[in-house]
Amino acid sequence: MFSLKKLSPSITDMIRFDHSHVMVTFHQYTVDKRPSVKKALAETICDALEIHATLEEEIFYPAMRPRAHDRKVMDKSEPEHDEMRSVIAELRGTDPKSPRHDELVFELMRDVVHHVADEETVLLPEAEQTMSKDKLSELGVQMTKRRLELVTPKAGKIAANTALGFSSSTAALVVGVAGALFAARAVTRKSA
Ligand SMILES: [Fe+2]
Ligand SMILES: [Fe+2]
Repeated sequence: MFSLKKLSPSITDMIRFDHSHVMVTFHQYTVDKRPSVKKALAETICDALEIHATLEEEIFYPAMRPRAHDRKVMDKSEPEHDEMRSVIAELRGTDPKSPRHDELVFELMRDVVHHVADEETVLLPEAEQTMSKDKLSELGVQMTKRRLELVTPKAGKIAANTALGFSSSTAALVVGVAGALFAARAVTRKSA
């Protein structure tokens, strides 16, 4: 029987993909870029992080909380999201021509790199050890549905900032990587 669950990537792969996407965007931000491009890149990063944090807090962390062995990493996850939100709020209100804008982007990047490292080396492996593949895919479906609700009202703004922030060659690379990833996954699933 057709099952959406079987076609959906696992929630852990989706989280890894979100992390990669935001890191690619951070890597586009250099001090010599035009202020309008800096602002567009910062907005792309802020929107992506806010949506990702909400998805983890509503879907991944509640599923993980009773299973996590490393309580320290689990317990600091949400407070770290809140710290990121306060940097995001200041960044949004900062003029991209000011050096403070660069400082805040790099502060946010440092926080995100540490947080992502804890998730990718502790929480995601623990999830894959303690949950079945079906459960991970079912959570993936929930995450996709909720993501659509969160992205839809911002879709125009996100598309405009992505177009402005990324050079066309990098945008092609990002879309190409995403397309290749999902195509490869579909083939693997079909032959499994
Ligand atoms: Fe997180
Ligand atoms: Fe994350």
